[in-house]
Amino acid sequence: MEQSIKSKLSDSEIKEIVKERYGKCAETGMNIASSCCAIEASKSSGFATDHGLYTQEDILLIPETALSLSRGCGNPTGFAALQPGEIVVDFGCGAGVDVILASQKVTPNGKVIGVDFASEMIERAKQAIEEAGTSNTVEFRISDLDQTGLPDNFADVVMSNCVINLCPDKEDVYREVYRILKPGGRLAISDVVYTEKVDANVHERFQSTWAGCVGGAIDKESYFGVIRNIGFTEVNLVAQHLLASKELDEMACCPGAEYTPVPDEEDVAVTQNKIASIKFTAIKPTISD
Ligand SMILES: C[S@@+](CC[C@H](N)C(=O)[O-])C[C@H]1O[C@@H](n2cnc3c(N)ncnc32)[C@H](O)[C@@H]1O
Repeated sequence: MEQSIKSKLSDSEIKEIVKERYGKCAETGMNIASSCCAIEASKSSGFATDHGLYTQEDILLIPETALSLSRGCGNPTGFAALQPGEIVVDFGCGAGVDVILASQKVTPNGKVIGVDFASEMIERAKQAIEEAGTSNTVEFRISDLDQTGLPDNFADVVMSNCVINLCPDKEDVYREVYRILKPGGRLAISDVVYTEKVDANVHERFQSTWAGCVGGAIDKESYFGVIRNIGFTEVNLVAQHLLASKELDEMACCPGAEYTPVPDEEDVAVTQNKIASIKFTAIKPTISD
């Protein structure tokens, strides 16, 4: 099932739209209830970890600044098997939820680098890190994900939570991930993909506004195809959760209806259970592999 209608928006237009939405959300969104799905889903599922969500212990470690701006669809630190001393890069770190959780796991000698192109989000993340008291193991970088400026063969782990669906060129982003990972380094990713074909007109309408975390999503096979073509191996699906109507409502106007046009109710209704949040790991092979 391949579903790849080309968006009428150019790649640079899409990036500007996304940056502006999340920038505005960081400035004004701390009192708004919407949170995509990871935090709310964690609470409503009794903090279940089997779907790759946050545990109650995780949530207690995160200051309100980061929690209220959390817009993820999983919990990469829950399945990344992070070890003390590791270097971790969070692609699209937002207000820093996963940076904080990762920093607790890699301390004392490790490091976490949060990358995001919305400078307002990075400001919130810095504030949250101060509040969490974990600033000594953390750095931030305001940058596009397809050109981070980080060194080659640098990171033990690249994680990302509900971000790459927003990027117009997934291949460019995963090439950058591959470049900065050490041989033997690993991916821990939560993201949104299509698991079933939807009507082409509906798909096109989602794409036309780059609707939340749905407008830029591609089908699961193509997504894993990109990762394998770049050279990642041992791609392992940790969990998959089909998005039902309420979750899809929120996902389709992430980071919130105040920032993103709300898609047609019927379009959302016919798409429910055809889009999933997935959690997966993969490896950049060593030369001997
Ligand atoms: C849905 S939010 C998720 C944020 C965070 N990972 C979390 O779980 O709360 C997506 C984030 O990715 C960032 N982002 C999206 N596309 C990006 C790109 N091309 N380069 C850098 N950051 C990007 C946005 O600014 C936003 O902060």
